Amino acid sequence: MKIIDGKKVASDIRAELKVITEKLISDGKKVPGLAAILVGDNPASQVYVNSKAKACGEIGFKSVIEKLDSNISQTALIDKIKFYNENDDYHGILVQLPLPKHIDESEIINSISVNKDVDGFHPVSVGNLVIGNKTFAPCTPAGIQELLKRYSIEIKGKHVVVVGRSNIVGKPIANMLLQKKENANSIVTVCHSAGDVKKFTKQADILIAAIGVPNFIKADMVSEGVVIIDVGINRIEDSSSAKGYKIVGDVDYEDVSPKVSFITPVPGGVGPMTIAMLLKNTLLAYQKLTN
Ligand code: GUN
Repeated sequence: MKIIDGKKVASDIRAELKVITEKLISDGKKVPGLAAILVGDNPASQVYVNSKAKACGEIGFKSVIEKLDSNISQTALIDKIKFYNENDDYHGILVQLPLPKHIDESEIINSISVNKDVDGFHPVSVGNLVIGNKTFAPCTPAGIQELLKRYSIEIKGKHVVVVGRSNIVGKPIANMLLQKKENANSIVTVCHSAGDVKKFTKQADILIAAIGVPNFIKADMVSEGVVIIDVGINRIEDSSSAKGYKIVGDVDYEDVSPKVSFITPVPGGVGPMTIAMLLKNTLLAYQKLTN
């Protein structure tokens, strides 16, 4: 059993990006900038956005966090996005999800300039991804693909089973690994809670769990030698921890890990990769906008 060390890979990527930023600075150029918009006070969202801004700072990117009140109007939020669409210091814009109920998420995503859509959530980015055009790939799926690549895990012709069909992970990773391209070309099945999940997960060479249910995948649901990519970040009560909770994945690690060839831990697997790929997309946006 081999543990896929996402923390290490993410740190390598950040170091690579830092070198590139230092060169921009020594050449007297502008640095890549990321505007992160956070609406309301969801504690997990606050943690994510702060980590994203901190990661920018560490490699020399400019960043700003726009903290907006949970009862902001949709129009005022769109105006804020338009401000960053037009602002030359910020090349990437992200609106942390989920948004409060009174705001139409898709209207908000539609208002982000496609050229600054570093989350890859805009319908134009999604369409380009599906047909295999060059575009911003959503950060978590891009992180998964990068981990499989850096660990030389063969995926061509392999059966990848994705559990979960979200717009952020399930749908895009299925589309990315299906492409007739390098680091893809897999046979992909997407399954979800409306059917017999175990019937499909048993057939997986590579299992990607992105359902948001703590410890959902058990040993009897997978085959010997499977590669496990656990996307879950679930808070569960833990009275032994000072915080009162701990973070677990969608895969029951203790139960499943004896059967696997590779597995991503939680924390320290896919999570850190999401931020590394966001930085990479921000650099990409910068390069496209400034060249
Ligand atoms: N909420 C959960 N994951 C993400 C993400 O990758 N980007 C944004 N903007 N919101 C999220």
